[in-house]
Amino acid sequence: MKKLEDIDLTNKTVILRCDLNVPMENGIITDDNRIVESIKTIKYLYNNANKVVILSHLGRVKSIDDKIKNTLKPVCNRLSDILNLNIRLCTYEEDVKKIINNNKIVMLENTRFFDLDNKKESNNDINLSKYFASLGDIFVNDAFGVLHRKAASVVGISKFLPSYLGFLVRKEIENLNIIRNNPKRPFAVILGGAKVSDKIGLISNLITKVDKLIIVGAMSFTFLKVKGINVGKSIIDIEQEEYVRDLLNKYEEKIILPVDVYTGEFDKNSQKILKDINDISSSDMALDIGPKTIKLISENINNFKTIFLNGPAGAFELPNFSYGTIKLFELLEKINANIIIGGGDSAYAAIKFGFKDSFTHISTGGGASLEYIEGKSLPGLKYFSE
Ligand code: 3PG
Repeated sequence: MKKLEDIDLTNKTVILRCDLNVPMENGIITDDNRIVESIKTIKYLYNNANKVVILSHLGRVKSIDDKIKNTLKPVCNRLSDILNLNIRLCTYEEDVKKIINNNKIVMLENTRFFDLDNKKESNNDINLSKYFASLGDIFVNDAFGVLHRKAASVVGISKFLPSYLGFLVRKEIENLNIIRNNPKRPFAVILGGAKVSDKIGLISNLITKVDKLIIVGAMSFTFLKVKGINVGKSIIDIEQEEYVRDLLNKYEEKIILPVDVYTGEFDKNSQKILKDINDISSSDMALDIGPKTIKLISENINNFKTIFLNGPAGAFELPNFSYGTIKLFELLEKINANIIIGGGDSAYAAIKFGFKDSFTHISTGGGASLEYIEGKSLPGLKYFSE
């Protein structure tokens, strides 16, 4: 299959789908990593094509209020600043074709604005796909984070234009294939985050492949409770107790759980108290893992060859409970292995705490990276053989 670099883009208008769905608070971008990671393809197209038209979604759009809240304006401004270009943000009420004609680089407003009309974007509406395709000559899909969604600007458009994968999508696939295909052994997966239910597909797919499955974060309390440990007021996923019991019965020797925790209140001013796992009282809430757990993990995986981490080890957004998340990154940084960090919260934490360049790969995808590693076919790759 031909690659983007093999195509003569002179005189071509390229429609570029990115995933610029960045977290925001009150209109301010709180993490611009997805924008930064999209730059390579945007620059390449800007330098080689006649025109670039950028498409992206932002948030979910179910009402007029969502439309106001989820304008791509701050994203367009941030991208313009990074590239030192004046990127024209174009609304769908304007004469879109004329604006594309008059500008070298244009960003169209949030593709999910079309969800207010019968969910046309999210339902992969054929007419909307044709409309997006009618705006250019070539389609480049670089929106890794949304490849698991069957949307008009991600999937449908490829039916109507010659289509190529962008550099970010290629980098993601190449690196996530390290886990999805044949990971070098010994192979460990470290899973954190709040809910067991979000990770069932992943656990079920990986449990037979891993040498060790390390469970940290709030997820671990469901496992510990099933093992008969008093987890006090710590978060548990009651509905998954049966699943967890079955997993522990079959694979107990592979599964590593916390042996000590920091307890406290879910509050930025909370004190933290270190407790052995058997000393948690009924009024305690565990919010992080402790030093003995870090040591236990280190002893188990320091000679491993492939490690996949998904989900934080504790409530890292509260400074007093970021210890485990940071210590795990420090530990992984020292191991000579292929280390892949899944997207979402763990990617955010890795970058926030200064580990952006410490690992083999940090994914920009949340759900997309999990589904890809689970072995599912991503709808956004349907028309690509790579
Ligand atoms: C993500 O953040 O996972 C992607 O941008 C997809 O967003 P969605 O979950 O709203 O479809």
